[in-house]
Amino acid sequence: MSAEYQVHGDVAVITLVNPPVNGLGYATRLGITKGLAAANADAAVKAIVITGAGKAFSGGADIKEFGTPKALMEPNLLSVILAVEHADKPVVAAIHSVCMGGGLELALGCHYRIAAPGCSVALPEVKLGLVPGAGGTQRLPRVLGVEAALNMIATGEPVKSEVLAALPGQKLFDKLAASPESLAEEALALARSVSDVRPLPLVRHLPCKHPLGDAYFGFARNMVQGMAKNFPAPGKCVDAVEAATKQKFEQGMATEREFFINLMWTPESRALRHIFAAERAASKIPDVPEDTPKREIRAVAVIGAGTMGGGIAMNFLNAGLPVKMLEMKQEALDRGLATIRKNYESQVKKGKLKADKYEQRMALLSTTLDYADLKDADLVIEAVFEELGVKQAVFQALDRVAKPGAILASNTSTLDVNKIAAFTERPQDVVGMHFFSPANVMKLLEVVRGEKTGKDVLATVMALAKKIKKTAVVSGVCDGFIGNRMIEQYSRQAGFLLEEGATPEQVDKAVEKFGFAMGPFRMGDLAGNDIGWAIRKRRYVEKPGLKYSKTADLLCEMGRFGQKTGAGWYDYQAGKRDAIPSQAVVDMIEQHRKALGIAPRKIADDEIVQRLVYSLVNEAAHILEEGIASKASDIDMVYLTGYGFPIHRGGPMLYADTVGLFNVVQSMQRFAKNPLDDAEFWQPAPLLARLAADGKTFN
Ligand code: NAI
Repeated sequence: MSAEYQVHGDVAVITLVNPPVNGLGYATRLGITKGLAAANADAAVKAIVITGAGKAFSGGADIKEFGTPKALMEPNLLSVILAVEHADKPVVAAIHSVCMGGGLELALGCHYRIAAPGCSVALPEVKLGLVPGAGGTQRLPRVLGVEAALNMIATGEPVKSEVLAALPGQKLFDKLAASPESLAEEALALARSVSDVRPLPLVRHLPCKHPLGDAYFGFARNMVQGMAKNFPAPGKCVDAVEAATKQKFEQGMATEREFFINLMWTPESRALRHIFAAERAASKIPDVPEDTPKREIRAVAVIGAGTMGGGIAMNFLNAGLPVKMLEMKQEALDRGLATIRKNYESQVKKGKLKADKYEQRMALLSTTLDYADLKDADLVIEAVFEELGVKQAVFQALDRVAKPGAILASNTSTLDVNKIAAFTERPQDVVGMHFFSPANVMKLLEVVRGEKTGKDVLATVMALAKKIKKTAVVSGVCDGFIGNRMIEQYSRQAGFLLEEGATPEQVDKAVEKFGFAMGPFRMGDLAGNDIGWAIRKRRYVEKPGLKYSKTADLLCEMGRFGQKTGAGWYDYQAGKRDAIPSQAVVDMIEQHRKALGIAPRKIADDEIVQRLVYSLVNEAAHILEEGIASKASDIDMVYLTGYGFPIHRGGPMLYADTVGLFNVVQSMQRFAKNPLDDAEFWQPAPLLARLAADGKTFN
């Protein structure tokens, strides 16, 4: 039973006990109803208190039960709340720490509520693409007023109990306890003081109105649609709260239920729930148990103060860890330092960082030209030029000076981490930490696991990633790891599409309409087209048979490297980032088509999106089968956090599941027949073919 029942004199106390946040799983729900029944049956009990053990009143639904039959087993939350409302004796919710989702709905079913200060109160269901499903949209407006309640419901953001308690006219809390410590005593006292009150007050009986009625809800609807255009749930939150003002309570409850059930089936909610679970799953490595001992990281060193090194350093400074940066020359250090300062100063100017915090962070940063100064570092991250010879010199030097047990990480984006590890006498301490640019902003961190990387090293880096607020995903060693290996196929398709008749603008627009933050050509201009050029030059030698469109090379031969040269796939005005379609690029593509004898055809946006997205999916299926990624949801996290894949589609793998793998394979077989495309690439990866044939999914 995950609820405890105790009697304190004439008050029964039901305590939810389901760590970590007293999720309202089946056993807890059952425990509450049994406790209520016991209290109702005991003549000595005059009132009842419901509270939560440990770190929460209740965080809401039990995520362990998500999507399982247990989540629906009676007593479900609605039945529990009805049982509370119908109790023979007053029920007081004693709320502290965290009171969210179903937890708040349960509290709203109680006759009285007392809250400790500092408690986070929220209805966060909208963040999973849902509306609250156990009366939250009907009861919260009755106690807080329509506007305050709708703000909470439509954003899902937590508000502190003392802030809510101070709202004029609020009826959410009958009392704010003096402190978290005094909550239990004060709750008992409140319960005793109301033990004779009859009839018992119910939130459902309170009136619910907005003075402006339709005009207010029209305004609210516009607001949420502007903020969340790809998601239906916020709009439904407005509709549900409007129902609370226009319908009888029971009818409003039925409306809320209908919205909840319908939203549960939307691809958007499926995507958000998938991401919620995928994020938690990413930090778990199948053969690295959670209790694996971790190494202590108190001091960090970064080698190379260029584009990546500076951003990487900022992550650790932001988390309060001292960082030492090493470079070959003082000028390079000065440049790196100036960039970091500039970044922080712009944050200060925008009001995102306090001036004293900025100084504190800079005080944690030191620089050196001498490897001997790295002897105290617990973690060293290398971000020097992408050349194996340069990496070799760096890792050999590190092997000489780093203290035993120090973790030696490389930020390489393409090189073989096993080879890098072999430059040292301690390959078990070597790992890839592949940050994305700008490294102080992008959420994704690919943790590259070498053949010999120690499990404690992996466990340490995963925990550290959390500390610096990154989403870490483990990748095995292969060219490009998970993300860049997939993006190469996507870029190849983008090139073929140009040759066949599309313009950069058409391709970008189609993909951006699908929901990507940026199409492939705008992305190339931002990252620098010369990076892909260098990779292709290597590919031409390594895999001479692999087909590429030459358009990207021709672009680079024109010196159009992207925003940094003022011209790329698009033209750019000085100091601006707006992409202006370029006649010179269109002419270059046309000439190239002529040289190849290709008659351009009109390509539908659907074909563009499918070829780009399914190229990711097919490569990902290979990556999964080879064990480079351990689960499909990890690949989704890489694309959602590192490559601007649309959140409402849940990542390439979930998207493919949603479309149906059978349909994905059918499309690939069609693309394989296009003589201008790469027929060999479009052979469905064996894993994908198997899953499609068996009617299964990736996730
Ligand atoms: P960068 O050229 O901006 O910076 C490299 C820095 O390393 C320069 O300041 C250089 O002076 C310094 N350096 C070179 N050799 C050194 C040595 N032996 N000892 C000390 N310092 C040395 O290059 P960037 O873009 O920062 O890339 C660094 C690494 O990060 C590369 O491995 C790259 O593949 C990887 N990477 C780059 C990304 C990007 O978007 N630029 C993204 C992810 C990884």
